Amino acid sequence: MDRIAITGGARLMGEIPISGAKNSAIKLMAASLLTDEPLRLTNMPRLADTRLLARLLRRLGTEVVELDGEDGPETVLHTREIVSALAPYDLVRQMRASFNVLGPLIARTGHAKVSLPGGCTIGARPVDLHLEALRALGASIDLHEGYVYAQAPRGLTGAEIAFPFVSVGATEHAMLAAVLAKGTSVLSNAACEPELGDLADCLNAMGAKVSGAGTSTIVIEGVERLHGATHSVIADRIETGTYALAAAMAGGQVRLTNTRCDFVEALLVKMEEAGVEVERHDDGMTIRRNGARLKAVEVETDPYPGFATDLQAQFMALMTLADGESVITETIFENRFMHAPELSRLGAEIAVHGGEARVRGVEVLEGAQVMATDLRASVGLVIAALAANGETMVSRVYHLDRGFERLEEKLSACGANVRRIIGDGEPED
Ligand code: UD1
Repeated sequence: MDRIAITGGARLMGEIPISGAKNSAIKLMAASLLTDEPLRLTNMPRLADTRLLARLLRRLGTEVVELDGEDGPETVLHTREIVSALAPYDLVRQMRASFNVLGPLIARTGHAKVSLPGGCTIGARPVDLHLEALRALGASIDLHEGYVYAQAPRGLTGAEIAFPFVSVGATEHAMLAAVLAKGTSVLSNAACEPELGDLADCLNAMGAKVSGAGTSTIVIEGVERLHGATHSVIADRIETGTYALAAAMAGGQVRLTNTRCDFVEALLVKMEEAGVEVERHDDGMTIRRNGARLKAVEVETDPYPGFATDLQAQFMALMTLADGESVITETIFENRFMHAPELSRLGAEIAVHGGEARVRGVEVLEGAQVMATDLRASVGLVIAALAANGETMVSRVYHLDRGFERLEEKLSACGANVRRIIGDGEPED
C-alpha cells in the first residue's frame, strides 16, 4: 500500500485550484440512473470514490466514459436501461454513498436489491432515515441477510417527509427518489448543505421540479420522465477548507481558486479568530500567516452552515500548535476523534471525553510514523506533519485517496515537501 512522507517546516507559497466536490459528484452520478439519456458532468474530481461508484453503475447498466474536456475532467453517464437492480455488498461496503442508488433504482424500475452499507470507522451510521423516506414514498422495504429488498411496482407517490434530525444522505436519497414520484413531496428539516443545491440544480436541468434546496424545506413536484443534461459539479468545500488549514499550519501565503468563500464561512471565521489572515475573492480566497503563533479557539461541528464535521480533524491539527487550550465538540458522529491518538504520536496534547476533545497547544510537533484511520482524519495528519520537525510517514493513505485529488502534487506545487511512496501491493499492519 502507498504511504506519504512529509518533511515539515516549509512555508507554502502559491496557488491551489480546488476540484469538484466528491460528496456532490457521487450523488450526481447516481442521478444518471433516473434517465435513459446521457448525463454529462463537468468539473469532475478523479478519486477512488468516483471510480468505485462508476464500477457499481456499470454493473447496473450505465455506460461511464471519462473525458478530458475543454474545462477539465468530465464524465458522461448513459443508462439506456437498467440491466441489473442489484448493488452487491462488496461494492456498497467500500463506500456508504453507493447505498444512494437504491432510490433511483426503485424510481426507474419499481424494484431493487441493495446491500446495507454496514458499520464504519466514524460511528454506527445507520440508514433508517433513508428507508423511512422511501417507505413514505410508497416503496415496500424488507431486510434479509444484509440486503434491502424494495418494491414499488406501480411507482412511487409523493409524500410529506419530516426528518427527525438533519441527514445529508437521507435528504439526497429522498430527493433522488421523489423526482419521478406521482404528485408532490415536501421534505422538512432537510439538510441545507451546498451539495443539496447542486443535486437539485442537476435534477432540474434534467427536467425535474425541485424547489427550496439549500433551505430546510424542499418541495418536489414529481414528473413522468427525466432527460439528459450537462451539469458542472460545485467546488469541494472540504478540499477548500483543508488547504486553507494547511496554509495556516505551514505559514506563508496560498491562494485557493475555483471555489467559494460562503461554502466555508464558518471555518474562515474561526481561522480569523485564531489569527489567520483571510482575504475573500469572488473565485476563492487567499490565506496568509506570517510567523506569529495562533490563538486557541473553540469549535463545535454542526450541520451546514455550521462548522463542517469533515473539517474537524484538520482544525484539530491546527490547534495542536496554538497558544492555549482549544475545546473541539463533535456533534454529528459519535466516534470521530480517531485522529487524536495519531496526532499525539507527533507530540500533540489531546484529551478526549465523549464528544469533546481538549487540545492543549504545544510549542513543537515532531515527525513520526502515523496511520490514517479515515478519509478526513488522514488529511489532518498531513496538515500536522507540514509543521512538524523532521519526517512524518503516513500509512494507509488509501483513505486519503478516496477524497483528495493529487494531494501531494497540489501541496508540492506550493513548496511543501510531500512525496508518495508507492507500495509493493502488500497489506500493512
Ligand atoms: C455526509 C457526507 C459526510 C459528512 C456528513 C455530515 C457524503 C458522501 N458524505 O454523510 O462526508 O461527514 O454528510 O455532513 O456526502 N443518521 C442516522 N440515520 C440515517 C442517516 C444518518 O442515524 O438514516 C445519522 C448519522 O449516523 C450521523 C448523522 O445522522 O450521526 C448525520 O449523518 P448524515 O448527514 O446522514 O451523513 P452522511 O450523508 O452519511
